Amino acid sequence: MSVLDGKVAVVTGAARGLGRVEALELARLGARVVVSDLGTKGDGTGSDSAAAQAVVEEISQLGGEAVAHCGDVADWNDSKAMIQAAIDTFGGLDILVNNAGFCRDKMIFGMTEEDFDAVIRVHVKGHFCGIRHATEYWRNKGKAEGGSVYGRIISTSSEAFIFASVGQPNYAAAKAGIVALTGSAAQAMAKYGITANTVMPRARTRMTDSGMTGAIFAKPEEGFDTFAPEHVAPLVGYLASPASANSSGNVFVVWGKSISVLSRPGHAGDFNSEEPWDYKSVDGVLTPYLKDKRPVADSFIVPPM
Ligand SMILES: NC(=O)c1ccc[n+]([C@@H]2O[C@H](COP(=O)([O-])OP(=O)(O)OC[C@H]3O[C@@H](n4cnc5c(N)ncnc54)[C@H](O)[C@@H]3O)[C@@H](O)[C@H]2O)c1
Repeated sequence: MSVLDGKVAVVTGAARGLGRVEALELARLGARVVVSDLGTKGDGTGSDSAAAQAVVEEISQLGGEAVAHCGDVADWNDSKAMIQAAIDTFGGLDILVNNAGFCRDKMIFGMTEEDFDAVIRVHVKGHFCGIRHATEYWRNKGKAEGGSVYGRIISTSSEAFIFASVGQPNYAAAKAGIVALTGSAAQAMAKYGITANTVMPRARTRMTDSGMTGAIFAKPEEGFDTFAPEHVAPLVGYLASPASANSSGNVFVVWGKSISVLSRPGHAGDFNSEEPWDYKSVDGVLTPYLKDKRPVADSFIVPPM
């Protein structure tokens, strides 16, 4: 008996990179899986319906059950069809892993409107559509059955949000949006017994195989392969399982042999005024407070391992 026996999962962006290993992990743990992917190029253009099918075949070879779905995560109807594919093929839905996405990196002063819109769309709207259709299904099921239902949402953000990654203003903003969106869903769905958590992975994939990250994430000639995507999948499997029932609204950073649970942003300084604020009173408290501060410019730095 495996922990996900009898469960049905949808994994988006599951044809390659992190989504592929997550789909394989869920199948290994016993889930039946909808492998959903548009089969895009690295910049999000193009499509290839054969991409998802290849992972379905890998899962079948492991003795698991899976079906392919080719669609755009940020298209309302494609996303609805993806959730419906789980219900029609496997009789329901228990787990939604939102993972599909792409980057189009540029400095803020050179970014085009199209590159901003495309990256916000695939990540934020892509997560929204899946969560929207899945939660509607679970809410209706809970009402019909008169109790809590099994539901796990796992979203994929990035430390690009935490570090406000230079050269990724669209991506950093999108990944921040995913944390807020998932937290909102976690709160809305708590009374139905549904959890929603976010992972921030680090892994060597098509998305990270060039530039500075490509060099840092490169496969070592020997020893432990810290940035192999396979190291991210067990946390996703755990968050999909019944054992994670007490985790909702949490954010996890995961890579190599490390899992960190993030705390919410907190207050670094609090000021109160006897009277309503005016320029002088704001200046009176903030200028001394900021005297020794420097602009935040630490960007995305991988700490020493
Ligand atoms: N690799 C990392 O270190 C890293 C770090 C932080 C976050 N992430 C996030 O992890 C997720 C997976 O990225 P990856 O590194 O595996 O990249 P990847 O390029 O290997 O895989 C992304 C997958 O998403 C699919 N996809 C893209 N646009 C789509 C759309 N509109 N509809 C459906 N599918 C679409 C692609 O076809 C591809 O299979 C992304 O959300 C990414 O932002 C990755």
